[in-house]
Amino acid sequence: MVHYPAWDQDEARSIVSGLSHLEGATLPILHALQEEFGYVDPQAVPLIAEALNLSRADVHGTISFYHDFRTTPPPRKIVKLCRAEACQALGCEAVVDELAREHGIVVDEHGGPEKAAVETVYCLGNCALGPSALVEGELLGRVDADRIVALCGARQ
Ligand code: FES
Repeated sequence: MVHYPAWDQDEARSIVSGLSHLEGATLPILHALQEEFGYVDPQAVPLIAEALNLSRADVHGTISFYHDFRTTPPPRKIVKLCRAEACQALGCEAVVDELAREHGIVVDEHGGPEKAAVETVYCLGNCALGPSALVEGELLGRVDADRIVALCGARQ
């Protein structure tokens, strides 16, 4: 599990200025910020716009175009639950429903950096043993809602 430091505007500024000389610097800067802090805080937008002589709308547009960029701190832990066809046939949607109904865990909804989150993925290559999940690099088969809750570490 990766623990990121809290957003630090001075540190962000030095990351931005360290990369602003690159051609097409927006993406390298966004990646570097996300690598450092786990997300790109909205406070980065004016920094990047100013350093690269772009409008804030341009920077914002780039961030929202690429779905890999988070604009809020990442969850403490992420459990990826497969919801592709084979896992659907093996009951993954019932797991999703039970998580919401019995445990208040809404798949793909993030409760902030102190909570674990369950995210949808499409096929983990473990189709015969679905529903499949991936947590911290470990591939798991035949998961049910209770197992997911346990994997979330009581949502810590
Ligand atoms: S469909 Fe779920 S692992 Fe392939």
